[in-house]
Amino acid sequence: MRAESVPNLGLGLGLRSRHFNHILAEQPAVDWFEVISENFMDSHGRPRQVLRQIAERYPVVMHGVSLSIGSTDPLNFDYLKSLKTLAAEVKPAWVSDHLCWTGMLGVNSHDLLPLPLHEESLRHVCIRVRQVQDYLERPLVIENPSTYATFRHSTMPEWEFLTRLTQETGCNLLLDVNNVYVSAFNNDFDPAAYIRALPHDKIVQLHLAGHQNCGNYLIDTHDREVNSSVWQLFKLAYTLTGGSSVLLEWDGNIPDFPVYHAELLKAQQYMAATFEQAGDLPPVASAEQLSTPLHVMVPELRL
Ligand SMILES: [Fe+2]
Repeated sequence: MRAESVPNLGLGLGLRSRHFNHILAEQPAVDWFEVISENFMDSHGRPRQVLRQIAERYPVVMHGVSLSIGSTDPLNFDYLKSLKTLAAEVKPAWVSDHLCWTGMLGVNSHDLLPLPLHEESLRHVCIRVRQVQDYLERPLVIENPSTYATFRHSTMPEWEFLTRLTQETGCNLLLDVNNVYVSAFNNDFDPAAYIRALPHDKIVQLHLAGHQNCGNYLIDTHDREVNSSVWQLFKLAYTLTGGSSVLLEWDGNIPDFPVYHAELLKAQQYMAATFEQAGDLPPVASAEQLSTPLHVMVPELRL
């Protein structure tokens, strides 16, 4: 079921600096772009100027990696101020980050580190999500991380934690299908069961990416094509969500833009297969719809 009042942006790509010139010159037929917030928050030079130009032509979503929503450090309101300023300028369809922590005592590890999943950590994350949503004056979108370890004192699976987080805070979800596959392999759970158990009406976006198979574990490298098993999981996720916005991540060995775009367009065959029996594809948001600020298109915050 589609997330209520949240547009389906269609098929999007991550905005990477090596593609700036190509995008500005060619204006490729990409439905939307996702930007890494931190790459633009503190830049007032060319990257920010390019982003402004791209945001005039394409819908944009902001995706962060340093919110550290699970940390025991106090929330960093300097960071949030920069994030809010960028959002006011770019007018993203939504702002996302990960269920993780990235550091402590003010030190940023630049890694997306996993949390123990139990009642205390859920209460902690709920409080912080509400505070961030209150400050940003918009719902957050939280992404499932790729994980490489399970905490012995976790008392609930990640899908239950995320479901309860949406119920308690009104936040939405970004479902990274590759992350589910990587985590499921590394931690020995059923990735399809994970996807089936989530609240599909809260999923506003899907991520796809490539990973590295190291034999007895997988690494979420974002440096290659999407694995065939991940495409099959994507088909399941796309069906269950009723057609969420799709984004292909590629952060290492980044290819030329046409290669990156071609990999994204492979999604169409799985999307078509998903809806061919129902006879209709979910509508992609029109430019007119997208000119409306998101905060009036998403359900009201429960703060
Ligand atoms: Fe992701």
